[in-house]
Amino acid sequence: MQRLQKVIAHAGVASRRKAEDYIVQGRVKVNGEVVKELGVQVTSKDKIEVDQVPIYQEEPVYFMFYKPREVISAVSDDKNRPVVTDYFTEIKERIYPVGRLDYNTSGLLLLTNDGDVSQKLTHPKHEVDKVYVAKVSGVATNKKLMPVTKQMTIEGKKVAPAKFAILSTDTQTQKSIVQLTIHEGRNHQVKNMLKACGLPVEKLKRERYGHLTLENLKPGDYRELHKREINRLLEDSKN
Ligand code: URA
Repeated sequence: MQRLQKVIAHAGVASRRKAEDYIVQGRVKVNGEVVKELGVQVTSKDKIEVDQVPIYQEEPVYFMFYKPREVISAVSDDKNRPVVTDYFTEIKERIYPVGRLDYNTSGLLLLTNDGDVSQKLTHPKHEVDKVYVAKVSGVATNKKLMPVTKQMTIEGKKVAPAKFAILSTDTQTQKSIVQLTIHEGRNHQVKNMLKACGLPVEKLKRERYGHLTLENLKPGDYRELHKREINRLLEDSKN
């Protein structure tokens, strides 16, 4: 037995929050009857419809993907640019990215058809650590980067303190490699934080998401995650 909104989210129809709205709006039927209360329990034998369209109860699946640069973190793009799901043509489930990486950012991205897990992992209060490595313009110093360890205000919003490490600097080319660990996921957060320190990002890669690393994946590769790996991410995101 599972909660109705969770099953709708699993089917890839909507996030769990949206599924709750659909239920309250009277757009959901279970075995032909409109159900408007939240929390009704259903099984895989129940016939569920959203706006008269039956939903197919997919098994939840989870993948980690090494997103290449110049790929959109979405399932479609109105400008016809490559999207992350182009790499999953052999996967029949309707998966979508958990959060996003910028078009020009490479690295570890999760994809799933489990709206509930996706929502939990992207909730601002419960996000896991994410480690980014940036090539920046300028010579990084502890002094320049110190602001990221305090609460910065970026575009009028307070962002949580981050950790940094300077991996290398080159005074000749005036470039540095900096590692930044954050747990939120605001748009362009790493680029904005480093820019505010006077170190504009030239290249960005996400190397770690919670306990998951890219292992030996190459750009464009993916691997399926075990349920225990997802459970660990959910556990870690509660802290
Ligand atoms: N921060 C950014 O600036 N870009 C990303 O893609 C991810 C985090």
